[in-house]
Amino acid sequence: MSAIPPSSPDRRRTVLVTGAGRRLGREIALALAAGGWQVAVHYRSSRAEAEQTVADCAARSGDSALFEADLADEQATRALLPRVAARFRAVDAVVHSAALFEHDDAASFSYALMERHARSNTGAAILLAQALHDHLARRDAHGGAVVHLLDQKLWNPNPDFLSYTLSKAALEAATPMLALALAPRVRVVGVAPGLTLASHMLDDDKFAQLHKLSPLGRSSTSEDVAATVKFALENSSITGTTLLVDGGQHLMKFERDFSLM
Ligand SMILES: NC(=O)c1ccc[n+]([C@@H]2O[C@H](COP(=O)([O-])OP(=O)(O)OC[C@H]3O[C@@H](n4cnc5c(N)ncnc54)[C@H](OP(=O)(O)O)[C@@H]3O)[C@@H](O)[C@H]2O)c1
Repeated sequence: MSAIPPSSPDRRRTVLVTGAGRRLGREIALALAAGGWQVAVHYRSSRAEAEQTVADCAARSGDSALFEADLADEQATRALLPRVAARFRAVDAVVHSAALFEHDDAASFSYALMERHARSNTGAAILLAQALHDHLARRDAHGGAVVHLLDQKLWNPNPDFLSYTLSKAALEAATPMLALALAPRVRVVGVAPGLTLASHMLDDDKFAQLHKLSPLGRSSTSEDVAATVKFALENSSITGTTLLVDGGQHLMKFERDFSLM
């Protein structure tokens, strides 16, 4: 089959964004749709929110569709990209934003929680990158890109969220390995936000206070992160590295995770 380069004016590029029903994944999906990407919106349990993301993406780029999968389930994860390819015919990129973020530390650490984080945060990113590579290889196409969301705390460690941090550290280590293994068809880039959105463990006042805690006086916004993801997807020479988008928080030293400060 002859290759259609992803940049071809003959067709729109398609990106799968995981965890795109809510929060950062939704902002990334909307920014990519606004830039002309057709967005495959993945969700696990936030169906109503994901349907809204699909409607909002379609209003921006003309086409979008919904895909449910539990990324802790290996078979469901392996099946996801082929389902997207069947719907859109061609897939050009994956953004892995979905993540498990459950607290543990050295005292409460268990194999069970480590494995749950490793599956959804690390393993799923690798399987989706592999699936994109296989999809492009079958079409003899190049120009694929994978972006996975990391975290500034890898450069600024504290004792909290041990299993989450290990899962992201493994993915950061996998970035250059995958970049080499999947070149020249697929580029692989990490994007590491700082504190960007409040969580159930942070009220709005505390979040606003902590968001200022950086050398630049502000950490990342959702718009900053989404714009960086779009840049990483569209710049054809970046691979095997991570872009930190955090107002410089990684240059500081925090004794605890933000949610426990
Ligand atoms: N928010 C921040 O300030 C911040 C800071 C640094 C790094 N990050 C990173 O940026 C990314 C996005 O952050 P976020 O705050 O938007 O994430 P989040 O709200 O914690 O999680 C995003 C989505 O991940 C999905 N998810 C979790 N486990 C899953 C599984 N097993 N299978 C499928 N989907 C699963 C959930 O989808 P459903 O709701 O559909 O179940 C959830 O809505 C994450 O990778 C995070 O580590 C975020």
